[in-house]
Amino acid sequence: MTYLEYLNTYLKLELIEEIEEDAKINKVPIISKDSLSFLFMLIDLKTPKRVLEIGTAIGYCAINLASFDDDLIVDSIERDEELFSKAKLNVSEANLEKRINLYLADALTIDNSELKTYDLIFIDGAKAQYEKFFNKFKSLLNEGGIIVSDNLLFHNLLFEENVSKNVKGLTSKLKKYNLFLKENEEFKTYFFQIGDGIGVSVKK
Ligand SMILES: C[S@@+](CC[C@H](N)C(=O)[O-])C[C@H]1O[C@@H](n2cnc3c(N)ncnc32)[C@H](O)[C@@H]1O
Repeated sequence: MTYLEYLNTYLKLELIEEIEEDAKINKVPIISKDSLSFLFMLIDLKTPKRVLEIGTAIGYCAINLASFDDDLIVDSIERDEELFSKAKLNVSEANLEKRINLYLADALTIDNSELKTYDLIFIDGAKAQYEKFFNKFKSLLNEGGIIVSDNLLFHNLLFEENVSKNVKGLTSKLKKYNLFLKENEEFKTYFFQIGDGIGVSVKK
């Protein structure tokens, strides 16, 4: 545990610790502790009623958010069947089926009419598709809503030359996305060196 993790407050639920352990063992990427704290802070400040998460994995972030705020509803999309099933199990174990709606779907092709409108949209799916996610879901944002994008620094590899072709492809897409956010005419984005790099986009 880092010093800041010690200072911050996290939910001390056995299930959450089990999911963290599972994620570590099975190498499932989940939100970092400080990014999670940042989301908790946004929830405290903005009191969103409904959140859309792109990329559920095994439900770690969704369960944390819904447990943090008893009034919050989380809709979350996952395309991987195995991860989706695990998320379903975890959500049911957390007794949060009424406030976490899981969608087994590709976020790029899901029909937006199956979804609702949101006060906060959390983009945490395939890094190469961020711009497409942003453009697809921005219309679902409620007045005053925000879009949060995670992993904008991609393990600090954005400007690293000595990486595989695959990583190079991802980092060049993320750099393009960061620029897209910076120069966006509809949204103003604040960039933070928190976790793996977070952007918070607010409609102008
Ligand atoms: C970083 S993990 C999500 C972690 C989760 N948000 C958390 O913090 O607990 C990214 C997930 O997004 C999923 N994903 C990637 N692209 C997707 C897409 N187009 N539609 C739905 N899910 C996607 C992956 O299968 C993976 O499980």
